[in-house]
Amino acid sequence: MRIGILTGGGDCPGLNAVIRAVVRKGVEQHGDEVVGFRDGWRGVLDGDVVALDVAAVRGLLPRGGTVLGTSRTNPFALDGGPERVLATLERLGIEALVPIGGEDTLGVAARLGEHGVQVVGVPKTIDNDLEGTDYTFGFDTAVGVAMEAIDRLHTTGDSHHRTLVVEVMGRHAGWIALHAGMAGGANIVLIPERPFDVDAVVAHCLHRFESGYSPIVVVSEGARPADGDLVTSTGQADAFGHVRLGGIGAALAQLVEERTGREARAVVLGHVQRGGTPSQFDRVLATRFGLAAVDAVHDGASGVMVALRGTDVVRVPLAEATARLKLVPLERYAEAEVFFG
Ligand code: F6P
Repeated sequence: MRIGILTGGGDCPGLNAVIRAVVRKGVEQHGDEVVGFRDGWRGVLDGDVVALDVAAVRGLLPRGGTVLGTSRTNPFALDGGPERVLATLERLGIEALVPIGGEDTLGVAARLGEHGVQVVGVPKTIDNDLEGTDYTFGFDTAVGVAMEAIDRLHTTGDSHHRTLVVEVMGRHAGWIALHAGMAGGANIVLIPERPFDVDAVVAHCLHRFESGYSPIVVVSEGARPADGDLVTSTGQADAFGHVRLGGIGAALAQLVEERTGREARAVVLGHVQRGGTPSQFDRVLATRFGLAAVDAVHDGASGVMVALRGTDVVRVPLAEATARLKLVPLERYAEAEVFFG
């Protein structure tokens, strides 16, 4: 078969491992030809391709980012976009498409599936917010980076008797904050799913100082106070309507400093969480997803996404996986609250 592959949305560790697995299994076991589209759906719109043979994917397993490039292009937001996509696939003789992405990229895939394109999606995002899969690859690596940062911040915070507020990514889901906060022993974790009470944050910080240690507050970029708004860095939205988040860490540090009377600083981890080599968990998951996607293509499956359920890789309908975000259940958050203060 002639299979097209693309990576869309924010990059994340493990994308190259999927590309490698699709090519290795497709070419070596099925005699497929694999074509990579550059920069996500932009490459499909423009017919911008690169041939992917076994030599082209050598050494990709540990490499971060995506060798295909990525973009947040949405063909359905452009006049004649879907028609241009279909024309490219027809012209290049692409029989099946393997888009690797999050809710936006896979949302486009689901709609193309309805137009008769054979699509098998692969879920990725450091945010771990895709419904239908227990984990996305990239998440484990991002949590590892944030955990290491928190470990380091404990010692410098204690030395200077100051509060350190660590802002992590995650958009509207608090998974990175929750897992990094638990793994790093943070004293407070603030997530978008549960608007926070500033008085309670200040009280927890003061309690921590009283016990002889300095507070570490982990705040997800999408968290907001119960009586305040989401902090955004620009008012601009991308092609899928997402505004750029960021700034809650600095705003909160200022509030905590004023209210505790002790110095507070903000640390924004930002894209450090997304870059670099994938963890062993993400390498294995990404590889298993790539292999399973090729199997699904050859089984004639379409409109599906490969997904992790427990320890098994299964197929779930794309429509189901992209219908809503997988947010942190409040009972999961409540488990962590025993460590607050
Ligand atoms: O979805 C992954 C993610 O890293 C989010 O956590 C974050 O809000 C967003 O992408 C940032 O995107 P960009 O790098 O395009 O600003």
